[in-house]
Amino acid sequence: MANPFAIKSIDALQILDSRGNPTIRAVVCIEQGICEFGDAPAGASRGTREAVELRDTNGYVTPAINAIKYEVSKALEGFDVRDQRKIDKMLIEIDGTPNKSRIGGNTTIAISIATAKTASKALGMEYFEYIGGKNATIIPIPLFNIINGGKHAGNKLKIQEFIVIPVKFDKFSEALFATAKVYKALKDLITERYGKIFTALGDEGGYSPPLEKTEDALDLLMAAIRNAGYDSEFYVGMDAASSEFFNEKDNVYEIDDKKLNRDELLDFYVNLAKTYPLLYLEDPFNENDFEGFSILKSKLKNVIVIGDDLYTTNVKYLSKGIELNATSGTIVKPNQIGTLSETLDFCKIAKLNNIKLVVSHRSGETEDSFVADLAVGVGSEFIKTGAPARGERTSKYNRLLEIEKYYDMEYMGKKLSL
Ligand code: PGA
Ligand code: ZN
Repeated sequence: MANPFAIKSIDALQILDSRGNPTIRAVVCIEQGICEFGDAPAGASRGTREAVELRDTNGYVTPAINAIKYEVSKALEGFDVRDQRKIDKMLIEIDGTPNKSRIGGNTTIAISIATAKTASKALGMEYFEYIGGKNATIIPIPLFNIINGGKHAGNKLKIQEFIVIPVKFDKFSEALFATAKVYKALKDLITERYGKIFTALGDEGGYSPPLEKTEDALDLLMAAIRNAGYDSEFYVGMDAASSEFFNEKDNVYEIDDKKLNRDELLDFYVNLAKTYPLLYLEDPFNENDFEGFSILKSKLKNVIVIGDDLYTTNVKYLSKGIELNATSGTIVKPNQIGTLSETLDFCKIAKLNNIKLVVSHRSGETEDSFVADLAVGVGSEFIKTGAPARGERTSKYNRLLEIEKYYDMEYMGKKLSL
């Protein structure tokens, strides 16, 4: 008799992401009749070292679908769906390039996630349990990007994400609903100051008011926190995504009507940390400036410095960052590297070296909530999945609410020593 866990078929379809762009959904079915899907999200401010997406010139993912239909499905037929590593290794081999550019990182991640989901479903386990076993016991601290700038918005803010961080709460659910109050207070403030027309949302569900300066956005965050009745419960953070405003030719950062060299940008951040309760700073310098990161980290002892475009969920660059003491934490985006096994290896190396994890969505998302389970599964300290609004963002937060309630999990905000 055939192995009930053997892969019977892999299918794929083109679906829409939250920006209305085509993306890929892979569906893995096994002999016992269980099927699950995996979606590929898409970034807008992508690191240059990320796995490459396969699309045609019009942006459709037809080539990725054809790769699954005519090549990958045949190669993986009969593999035991519980052999995640073997399946991911095969995907890497079939692709045969260092950056998954032949069959596409979007193709490989969709299959890889669908594989894990199908296996855990067949085993009667929750996804986070399948990934983390008994170690999956804590809900991470959410990083809510509630003012959008940079590539995610149409305003003039150069910093991409202005984040509120509800740390001092006993439970994740309390932290989430408190943030929803802050989000509402922010909307009221924007309506009052700029008019309702400026309450339109950016790509990650944050507002994108007509602000130009970094400090104006941080002041607005602080006012919203206060107006919602909170104070020291919240910290603030930023994802600068600074490669996007780095002028490589002149070696300067073009921000807030100024051209700053690395030292000047560093002073700019140091001053912000003196004025605001800044806990989190992601990609403060361009993706090649490991040294800039490490100088900043040594200067800002109370700020968690994070690499996103710097590492692109790739062990090779993380190892360099560890050697140079460049960051205290890292973003984890499975589609940056292209398979779940490589993502888990990355998390393992980070944990072994005391590098905090920030499991993250992409700005182009689907309604699949898998990253919420991944974050709990790997014991991530933080999760970054946008504002507390828009279905593709709330699906992750609502999944965390479910996990908290039905598995009686603790909140990382209570455990993290800052
Ligand atoms: P992206 O942005 O998904 O557009 O790359 C998210 C981030 O930079 O963290
Ligand atoms: Zn980022």
